[in-house]
Amino acid sequence: MTRSSNFTAIILDWYRQWGRDLPWRHTTDPYAIWLSEVILQQTRIEQGLDYWQRFVQRWPTVGDLAAASEDEVLRMWQGLGYYSRARNLLAAARQVVEQGSFPATLEGIKALKGVGDYTAAAIASIAYGQPVAAVDGNVYRVLARHYGIATPINSTQGKREFAALAQSLLPERQAAAFNQAMMDFGATWCTPKSPHCDGCPLADTCVALHSHRVAQLPVKLKTTQVRARYFQYIYLRCQGETALRRRPAGDIWQGLYEPLLIETPQPPGDDAPAAIMAALQWPAGTEPGEACRLVQLRHGVKHQLTHRTIYADFYLLDTPVRPVLPAGYLWMPERDVGRYALPRLVEKLLALAGME
Ligand code: ADE
Repeated sequence: MTRSSNFTAIILDWYRQWGRDLPWRHTTDPYAIWLSEVILQQTRIEQGLDYWQRFVQRWPTVGDLAAASEDEVLRMWQGLGYYSRARNLLAAARQVVEQGSFPATLEGIKALKGVGDYTAAAIASIAYGQPVAAVDGNVYRVLARHYGIATPINSTQGKREFAALAQSLLPERQAAAFNQAMMDFGATWCTPKSPHCDGCPLADTCVALHSHRVAQLPVKLKTTQVRARYFQYIYLRCQGETALRRRPAGDIWQGLYEPLLIETPQPPGDDAPAAIMAALQWPAGTEPGEACRLVQLRHGVKHQLTHRTIYADFYLLDTPVRPVLPAGYLWMPERDVGRYALPRLVEKLLALAGME
């Protein structure tokens, strides 16, 4: 036996013993499998499970999903983050309906909105048994360590090198098992921190273990800098109503809803409450008067996104008179706020305003 086939046999053996029993592993329905892959792209299994179950219950077929509105899908996605996944999911469901059936070739799957090399290979192998290696972060880690490869995993050369290696290890007839074995092994055994090297079935041939480089592999190039943004959210309360707007295209959280937002290029100063009051406009002939109160609920709430750190201040403006709002904001009964898809940061504000 060569070393590589040894690796494959050991991984498959490990999977038979330790592989996770997940609901989408009991189906070959490409729609259900695609859903699981999209949900799991940036999400831990424990959290994703629940969402997957709710999606397949609410929309059992790709046709059902295609008929949903973007608001409904975003609402269902709420809390998972990376909302472009949800928008792409809906667009792809509509593509499938237009084509008449779920694509069965790797190229056809890859042509779906939001589906990249990894997801296409995962669906093709798991749903259709096609012999294509699916290389996700777990697979990079397992291979980089086991074969002692220091090529950066996010470089063009690294992607090519790891994809070729994974493909060479893939057993033709057990593609689904091999790919999922690699994912599970990386997610539960060969973990980023504190991997189970003691008692690892691959320890004998693990280059990183023998050269004491487990903590140094895989290598990833640093890319974009994380930029800070400063948001002041003002939750309005006017006679049982509040105002939200749908966030526009071209920025984070496209299609999600939010209360009145003032964004500043620098952290707001101590005069922020006065500046907010001065910026508010009132209908001609009305005066907000004494009964209008602006309360700061929180200062400097830190919210981490992949390439952005948001620092948010939360305010509640209780007012008997409706201020004039910038275009795009809609007044609605406060009790209806729960129907809208909201960023998690906004959910925190709503909880503080007593809305949950
Ligand atoms: N992560 C992404 N897809 C997965 C799958 N099919 N099984 C386990 N973990 C995964």
